[in-house]
Amino acid sequence: MFDSTTRTMVVVGAQWGDEGKGKLVDVLAERADWVVRYQGGANAGHTVHIGDRSFVLHQVPSGIMHPGVRCAIGNGVVLDPETLFIEIDKLVADGIDVEGRLYVSERAHLVMPYHKLLDKASAASKVIGTTGRGIGMAYEDKVARRGVRVLDLRYPTRLRELVAAGVERANAQLERGGAAERASVETTMQVLEALTPRLMAIAEDVGLCVHRAIKSGAAVLLEGAQGSLLDIDHGTYPFVTSSNTTVGGAATGVGISPMSIQSALGVVKAYTTRVGNGPLPTELDEPLHTEVRTLGNEYGATTGRPRRCGWFDGVVVRYAARVNGLTGLAVTKLDVLDTLPQLAICTGYRVNGELYTEFPADLQMLEQAVPVYEWFDGWRQPTQDARRLADLPSAARAYLDRIEALCETPISYVSVGTRRDQIIGVDARA
Ligand code: IMP
Repeated sequence: MFDSTTRTMVVVGAQWGDEGKGKLVDVLAERADWVVRYQGGANAGHTVHIGDRSFVLHQVPSGIMHPGVRCAIGNGVVLDPETLFIEIDKLVADGIDVEGRLYVSERAHLVMPYHKLLDKASAASKVIGTTGRGIGMAYEDKVARRGVRVLDLRYPTRLRELVAAGVERANAQLERGGAAERASVETTMQVLEALTPRLMAIAEDVGLCVHRAIKSGAAVLLEGAQGSLLDIDHGTYPFVTSSNTTVGGAATGVGISPMSIQSALGVVKAYTTRVGNGPLPTELDEPLHTEVRTLGNEYGATTGRPRRCGWFDGVVVRYAARVNGLTGLAVTKLDVLDTLPQLAICTGYRVNGELYTEFPADLQMLEQAVPVYEWFDGWRQPTQDARRLADLPSAARAYLDRIEALCETPISYVSVGTRRDQIIGVDARA
């Protein structure tokens, strides 16, 4: 929560994404002056429910739902201008006023149409199970120092050169992979030229704007996308996304000092999910797997893919707490577990008979990991109307207490439904 000492806060996913960051950012944005995205791109799908309406935001920060809040997309994001304006136009059609309060960093790299073609055609993307939004390919070009940045749109001749080189590389790769589709310089330029006036109208030095906001004492919320276990360095590599999703990425992805970040809220589901391939040590067996997926409506907000579901993994979240320096946890979707007779929390992994309580970097170990579980009685009562911890059944409180102790991080929020008001705040602790 923002107060007189905490003015800059990061909200970060502490599992494999889809933890409910959109809802938390929406709730916290009520007290924020700025909400800034710092990494990822249109691979994200942040859902915000307001009354009986729901909005899925892919690139626009979730703070946009609050009229007075300024929103920015930082340099660490790879920006897809085509889908950005589709998203903005939809928000405007739904009565959300975006004019004059949404900015994009002039340093942000653009996701080009050919990045998306490559991602969809790539065999490696299929192995990882990417979202197909061209995210990895855009970051590849960024790191190879041949990407197109927002500010390049100011210089049509140089832009055409960069695009021509990108299209040539993409077509060679598409041909080698046997893909039918090809990118075209003319079509790409037409797309970019059509979007340039709108994009340049909102292009800013976002790092400078946020720095000034922080200096003036404004409340700044940095909105993470995906989750810590999908971090390019700290996640389950290579089954990860292509950016630093963890708190360190917030400073570099906005262009502010890490020293200015005062708190980090880790958002976790009361259980675990993951979309795409890669290790998920606590993955459930059937028929419980389908039951939890159905109860939690676990289908991707961006791709509609069914999510894989598992028990709460304390090894994972404790690791995320360490890597991010989490100052609080927000446990979401507790109500999804309301009907289960028994619940488990993973406290360690057994690999070849040895017990591990720290999350391993080695994928081979993770694949062999047999979770060690602690079992809890289910509460078998609805929790959706709870607004204070004291309103929760004692079995639910015992479950949360164990999460808090295991992750060595205080629980600041518990979410018990999709709506804005279905949340228990720390100050309601009884
Ligand atoms: P990419 O980010 O599209 O390259 O996909 C890489 C991996 O990250 C895949 O396993 C995706 O399913 C996963 N991923 C990317 N974005 C999200 C997200 O917002 N939520 C959950 N998983 C995601």
